[in-house]
Amino acid sequence: MATETRLEAGMSAPDVRAREVEEQMTDEERFSLLVSVMGVNDVVTVRDDRIPEGTPMSAGYVPGVQRLGVPAQLMSDASLGVTNPGYREGDSATALPAGISLGASFNPDLARASGGMLGREARSRGFNVQLAGGVNLQRDPRNGRNFEYLSEDPLVSATLAAESINGIQGEGVISTIKHFSLNCNETNRHWLDAIIDPAAHRESDLLAFEIAIERSQPGAVMTGYNKINGDYAGGNGVLINDVLKDAWGYRGWVMSDWGGTPSWDAALNGLDQESGLQLDMMMWKQVWFTDQLEAAYAERKLPKERLSDMVRRILRSMYAVGVDNWKPAPEVDMAAHNKIALETGRQGIVLLKNDGALPLAAGRPLKVAVIGGHAQVGVPTGCGSSAVLPPGGYAEVIKIGGPGIMGVGRNLFLYPSSPVAELKELLPNAEIEFDPGMSPAESALMARRSDVVIVFGIKIDSEGFDDPELSLPWGQDAVIDAVADANPNTIVVLETGNPVLMPWRDKVKAIVEAWYPGQAGGQAIAEVLTGVVNPSGRLPLTFPADLSQTPRPELSGMGTPWGTAVTIEYNEGAEVGYRWFATTGEKPLYPFGHGLSYTTFTYSDLKVDGSETITATFAVTNTGDRAGADVPQLYLTDAAGDARMRLLGFERLELEPGQSRSITLAADPRLLARFDADAGQWHVAAGAHKVAVGKSADDLELTGETTLSEARFGN
Ligand code: BGC
Repeated sequence: MATETRLEAGMSAPDVRAREVEEQMTDEERFSLLVSVMGVNDVVTVRDDRIPEGTPMSAGYVPGVQRLGVPAQLMSDASLGVTNPGYREGDSATALPAGISLGASFNPDLARASGGMLGREARSRGFNVQLAGGVNLQRDPRNGRNFEYLSEDPLVSATLAAESINGIQGEGVISTIKHFSLNCNETNRHWLDAIIDPAAHRESDLLAFEIAIERSQPGAVMTGYNKINGDYAGGNGVLINDVLKDAWGYRGWVMSDWGGTPSWDAALNGLDQESGLQLDMMMWKQVWFTDQLEAAYAERKLPKERLSDMVRRILRSMYAVGVDNWKPAPEVDMAAHNKIALETGRQGIVLLKNDGALPLAAGRPLKVAVIGGHAQVGVPTGCGSSAVLPPGGYAEVIKIGGPGIMGVGRNLFLYPSSPVAELKELLPNAEIEFDPGMSPAESALMARRSDVVIVFGIKIDSEGFDDPELSLPWGQDAVIDAVADANPNTIVVLETGNPVLMPWRDKVKAIVEAWYPGQAGGQAIAEVLTGVVNPSGRLPLTFPADLSQTPRPELSGMGTPWGTAVTIEYNEGAEVGYRWFATTGEKPLYPFGHGLSYTTFTYSDLKVDGSETITATFAVTNTGDRAGADVPQLYLTDAAGDARMRLLGFERLELEPGQSRSITLAADPRLLARFDADAGQWHVAAGAHKVAVGKSADDLELTGETTLSEARFGN
């Protein structure tokens, strides 16, 4: 085959084809691939005439080159479903639970299934690029986008992001991974300089990207809005050229975030495509990759090779994923997709505390008070570019608003899956009353005349906003407090995108974190409360007791007006979340990895081997009387005298009562290593390495040790 004979070292068939097609292009055609245009929505109200009639509106459109069979790029958000912020009249799609809920499932198979769902629903609308794969680490519990992301831990984040991306790309739709990198706060995000030690960056956020990219080969990487160590992510040569493309050998293309291209010479620093040109006009009064980039090219400031490379990267991802070669889209089975949303909601729910109040006794004629959280209407979700219009539309949209362009879309969106209605279904003998939770006194009245109280606490997080504190808003703490005083049999259900403080924690019998549980969330919550489903979610991030325990009790820049330059020092470096708590020795409110069940599990027979990497084998036994799923976790606690905590492995496994299974977890050697920035290599120190198997980062049950030889590897 001609193609095969032309394969050069390191080049695959898509590379070769990309080169062949690119070589036939005119410069005008090349430049046409480098800029995406947004469809019409609440923010961009004028239709750009570059988008041909009949093209489904979405976050991004890039024309194709018809004569060479290059398809147009039609880009849609995001990780939680195919979004429609007013682009297309009435077009709804499956609304998954928040990314943090998927994170709490610790279940790569579920990530794969939800990715497949995203791919099929994108494809059926003609979208061939899904702006998914949010993998930023949840470094700061105030970050307004934590709900979109998966975990504070690089391994959990990478494992689940990779499977979601594989699911999307398996349907012939290109997926991004985003936002590269350290887009970990929203505070003045366009002017935020995120400062971090480069080696620590490699051991944390960049490691999540690195592993996820290796495992899934996403067609595109989307950069962040922020700067990293002084340079905008969109034009950060160290990160894009040196790390992503050179050290990791990434072959796909790098697109900016919408309005996140800082200048034309970002192209010299590795950026291949400018996204959402209307937002660049808004931000910079400039579209950089049109006239400016063409002028730089004419003046030979942009070399021809680089222009070709930008185009080839886009083409090679198209060919690698197969978007140029679509057969008719398969039928979308919305009922099957609802099941994926439901299952993610179920597996993401974390039982934080249970003093015997749960599961609710289904057979008994209980008087149940359900209080607050609009639970008679539905379940909330987060705001911003990831918000999905669910089938049948929202049950309710209550405007919240706020400053800046993201204020327009900041709403209390309620999906029509009512916990009250679902509880009535599952507790036919119960008498269920609803109180809106408007005032502590009024709610206490109903609590007092009930056998059991289920009180909902909700909090709305949004892209574009960090939260100055971790409390529940709208006086809900006072309501929960009064209700718990009135009736000791109180259960709290939280629907939040982040950790919250719980001043009433010791007064209530049970606490359930349901996150934003998606379009079938009411059902998932009711099933867990009644024991139809045994809870199995684990916290993918640490719940601090208060902000003073976190690396940045004060968030610099918080409260400054839009446009203020802000510097945030991520001095915790790689010691994010539970790793940070391990260095300070403080007790969090709830640790990373924590989550209770209606059954019990024990661990035994730990064997640790250190020949290649650390491999741990141990047995997990369900010692209770119900079937349930557990997520045993393997941690490094000490690396040759360097005490540090690293999650090395985890597995979600379902066990029948009395059943025991042996599992083996092998560590990615990078999790055992430090990154040596001078040598540009990972370094495993020689000596005794201690590990522990536990139920959470703070509940380590078995310990073991093995000796590793010194190793240097990677780049
Ligand atoms: C977000 C991205 C998103 C893009 C396109 C930006 O505001 O940061 O995650 O993909 O918009 O809608």
